[in-house]
Formats: sequence, C-alpha cells, structure tokens
Amino acid sequence: MKIAAVSKLNKKVDLLIIPTFEGKDHLQSAPVEIKTVVASLKKDKSFNSEAGQHHHVTPLSDKLPKNILFLGMGKVKDFHAADARNMAADAMKFAKKMESDLTFVIPEAANDYFQEIAEGLEMANYNPAKYQTGESKKKHEKTDVKTVTLITAKKPNPALKRGQTIAAAVMNARDLINAPHNLMNGTMLMNAARKIGKDNKLKVTVLNKKQIEKLKMGAFLGVNKGSDIDANMVILEHKPKGATGKPIVLVGKGITFDSGGYNLKSGAWFADMKMDMSGAAVVMNVLGLCAKLGIKKHVIGITPITDNLIGPKAQKVADIVTTYSGKTVEVNNTDAEGRLILCDAMAYAVDKFKPSKMIDVATLTGACMMALGEKYAGLFANNEGMIEGIKKASDATDELVWHLPLHPDHTKEMKSRIADLQNVNYGNKGMAGASTAAAFLQEFVGKTDWAHLDIAGTAFVSKPKKYEAPMGTGYGVRLLTNYLENL
Ligand code: BES
Ligand code: MG
Ligand code: ZN
Repeated sequence: MKIAAVSKLNKKVDLLIIPTFEGKDHLQSAPVEIKTVVASLKKDKSFNSEAGQHHHVTPLSDKLPKNILFLGMGKVKDFHAADARNMAADAMKFAKKMESDLTFVIPEAANDYFQEIAEGLEMANYNPAKYQTGESKKKHEKTDVKTVTLITAKKPNPALKRGQTIAAAVMNARDLINAPHNLMNGTMLMNAARKIGKDNKLKVTVLNKKQIEKLKMGAFLGVNKGSDIDANMVILEHKPKGATGKPIVLVGKGITFDSGGYNLKSGAWFADMKMDMSGAAVVMNVLGLCAKLGIKKHVIGITPITDNLIGPKAQKVADIVTTYSGKTVEVNNTDAEGRLILCDAMAYAVDKFKPSKMIDVATLTGACMMALGEKYAGLFANNEGMIEGIKKASDATDELVWHLPLHPDHTKEMKSRIADLQNVNYGNKGMAGASTAAAFLQEFVGKTDWAHLDIAGTAFVSKPKKYEAPMGTGYGVRLLTNYLENL
C-alpha cells in the first residue's frame, strides 16, 4: 500500500475522512478547500464527535469528494498513541467497505503518531482470505486499498516508513499463523524462517533432527515421535556492529499443529490448533525487524518446531523423557507439549548463549485464555525489571499484558512421584494452569532473567480489534520489538 503525505486537498477524491473531536466544531477540522460547502452540513446536530461515532455525507457535487466521513474521536485530551492507531484502522476499514482509495485528514493531536497511523492503516488493510478464488478473490481485490493520501502540514517520514515496516512483519506473522498444517508444516515453517533470515541478513542456523538427538533434547524429541516430519530448531541471530555483551534470547513455540497427541483434543478449538506456532512466527518476525529497524542490540531468536500428532510411534501418556538439561519429565499429558519443546530450547539457549535476558512466547495454555480472554496475554517473570519493561512496551503498542502469579507452590505441583518433574499435575484438576505451566518452564532458565508470555488467547481471535482480522493477529511482534528498542 502506498501512503503519500500532502498539505492540500484534491477535492475530487472518492472518499475523504476527517477525524473530529468532542467540544470542537467538527467542521473546523475540515480542510479549507471544502469548508464553505461543508458548512451547510452544520445543521445536523446528531453528530457530536463522541468516540466511535461516524457521520457519513455524500455531497453530490462534482467539485467535492464523493463521500465525506466524519470520525468521532472523543475528547482531544484523551487522545494517545493507541487512539491514533485505532483511528487509522477505523478509517481504513471504512475505505475497504466503500471499495475506495482513502484521503485522510490528520488532526493536529495525531502529529506525534505517524508510526501508529501507518501501522493502523496497513494492519487494517490485511486480508486473511488468502485461499479464496474466483468471485470471492475479485471482491477482496476490490476492497484492498492501494493508496492512502494523508493531509497534514507535517513531514511524516520516516515515522510512516517505520510503521509500514513494522506492520509488514505483523502481517507476515499472520500469514504464517493462518496457514494450516498442510501448507505450513515444520519444514515449511523452517523455510519461512530461512527466508526471513536471508532477507534481513541474519545469521541462520538450523538444527536438524540428528543434531537435536545429539544434543539429547529428549522432551522436544518425545513430542516429535508421532510425526513423519523431522523436528527442527531454527536459530536467527541479529548481531549489529558495536553490540557487545550477552545477547537477549527470544524463544517461540513452533507447534505447527497440536492434535493433543494421545490426550487427543476434541471439539471447540481443534481447528484453531494450526495456530500453535504463533510464538515462533512472532519471534522470527521480531528478528527480521531487529535488522530492518537497525536495533542496536544483540538478539537471538530460537524456535523449536514440530507438530504434535498421534500414531503408533507417538509418545504415550506417562512416558518419561530426559530433557537437554538432564532433568527427567513424566509426560502425564501429551497435550501439554508446548512446555516440552520449550524447556529444551530454553535450557539450550541458557547453556549456549548465556543470555542477559530471555523471553519465551507461546500459545501455551487454554487456562490463560479462559482467564484473560482474547485481549490480554499472560505475563510471568522471575524479575521485576522485565515486568516493568514489558508493561511499558505494552502501553506503547496496545498489545496488552496481565501479570500473573508464579509462586514456589506452583513449582511444587510440577514435581513427579517417579521422575524429577511432571508436565501436568493431574491431581489438581488443571487449576492455575497458566501459572503451573510457567512454573514448569522456570525450572529450565537457571538464574537467567526471564519472562514468559502466554499468548494462547491473543494470538488467534474470533473478535478482532479494529486493526486486526479474524484468526492470526501477530500479537507480540510489536510488543517485543518495542521492548527491545527501548531496552
Ligand atoms: N496449544 C495448547 C494451548 C491452547 C489451547 C492454545 C487453546 C490456544 C487455545 C496447548 O498445547 C495445550 O494443549 N495445553 C493444554 C495443557 C493442559 C493439558 C495442562 C490445555 O491448555 O488444555
Ligand atoms: Mg497441547
Ligand atoms: Zn499446544
């Protein structure tokens, strides 16, 4: 999509959108070029610029825009970054509905938020229906907005460019998440990571199954036993000149389809389980952005990749596996596979890279989704600093987090009667499931400063926000990128 910034309105556009604020005469925000004509609309008292209000007028003069939409923005003092992003997304969704290009007046209050505006426009223009053909495809092509013209006195570059770059990474993550297993299996996801690595000149290392066996990642390999596609682990590294010291490691869960294994899933969310590699898709794209945005930190992204299937070779309930760390785990539930692949990737990362900080991102527990819904990800950490930092990034990006408890008693619940640990505590009926999962992971980070994001609810949604579409959201790409930039 092309976003151009101009200072004067070309009156003969199809759609002009003018954000207006409460208490102010909404016509004041209209460009001078159309002011006199639009003044006749002043009589309409039904519109008072409340947040979310739309007021659509069709002037019927060939000297004016065919459609003018006033977008209620509420009170100007309440207008912040997230409102700018939502405003732009709202405008974009309207333009799509009208099958029109968009000319968009940027209010003064949004002058510091051109990055957010570009993010909102691009993300809202995303079309998830990639696999439709014929008439449906044609319809989508029509609603795809190709050009946006911003009317602004400011010179908005490079903020616009930044916003578009970030949005492109979010949308790449969405594409990977939305692709089902037959179109995005473990090998394909590895190749997608290789491409991101190549496009961004990252160092790419792929551990194949043999190497994973040699490293004795028994928990990761246990999950892979039911698959006919070899497990792999992609390591993307961004090490700009001058970035010295220990790296920050991101780990992303890469389950390309989670059937549950012998603890087979049923009903409600089964079809959604193509999204169980969302963490990996997010991490790969954050690494791409580290390079594209020139983030001056040493960052490493690690994604253990496999599916979790069923079959004669698949791991059985109560199997005992030996993890990379040497700790043994009783697999009391084959559906709690995320922690099994992550624990090996995380212990390996700690060992190999000695990170200053580590964050894992995973669609880990239904319990987290039940607790927080689609809006908030669960945030766990073993240190205050990362909680504060991630919360700040959350405020800036509108990717919401909620700090959940991680208590030594949660850790106790993960002790097995027969092995060192158990991947679920059957006895507790799944209570505090997001916390016990985090407690399990914590056993593999040693003294490393670590945070865990459970994105089970936010990664894949049925009720999208203004700048989202149904299914994959790419949640976490913007949050983690912002966190890394401001570290
Ligand atoms: N991938 C799921 C978690 C999930 C569920 C994500 C629903 C998004 C929506 C994970 O592998 C899983 O199955 N977790 C189990 C853990 C349980 C067996 C302790 C769960 O949440 O049911
Ligand atoms: Mg599972
Ligand atoms: Zn899973």
